[in-house]
Amino acid sequence: MPELSSPARIVVLVSGSGTNLQALLDACAESSYGARVVAVGADRDGIEGLARADRAGIPTFVARVEDYSSRDHWNRALSDKVAAFEPDLVVSAGFMKLVSADFLEQFLTLNTHPALCPSFPGMHGPRDALEHGVKVTGATLFVVDAGVDTGPIVAQVPVEVREDDDVEALHERIKTAERAMLVDAVGRIARGGISVEGRRVRIGAGAR
Ligand code: GAR
Repeated sequence: MPELSSPARIVVLVSGSGTNLQALLDACAESSYGARVVAVGADRDGIEGLARADRAGIPTFVARVEDYSSRDHWNRALSDKVAAFEPDLVVSAGFMKLVSADFLEQFLTLNTHPALCPSFPGMHGPRDALEHGVKVTGATLFVVDAGVDTGPIVAQVPVEVREDDDVEALHERIKTAERAMLVDAVGRIARGGISVEGRRVRIGAGAR
């Protein structure tokens, strides 16, 4: 992996409330964290994730699929908008779109998912875990590859499923653990680098 800038430059992609983004913004306020959110991108307007970026004085951009003549054009537009901020790392934090192979070649992209991969990929991790009846689920941070939530795993955190959980209660508890995991892993990557060999991911000393 190439040397990261210091502080590491991060573009965060969001589609909704952006609580994971907020956790990163809060962490980045400390210079010792080693990273800086240089822009926040979204696939839709009017979401709290973008408002959080505005309040923090971080530049934002929006690329809506419906504004482009094809998915291919959207992918290229998204890549161009991200590239303008010269990120070391792209963090997809609740971004509900799959990006192209070209995008992934251009940017080291991490995604956070509310389940313990490889279990329960897709849009409904907490619901699917609850329906399956697992007693432990959690969150996974992984390097995005061509599949759906299949990439090399960077970090995971377990979360107990309680007997009285509904999807919302379980997802909220997962998100609390997920934010801490994300902030911890991104900070360690920013300060120490990351290397990905096959499915094995190493963070820190010598990983750059
Ligand atoms: C997070 O739990 C994230 O893992 C999930 O959406 C939530 C976004 O929360 N993403 C997915 O399910 C993607 N498959 P946030 O907008 O409050 O950060």
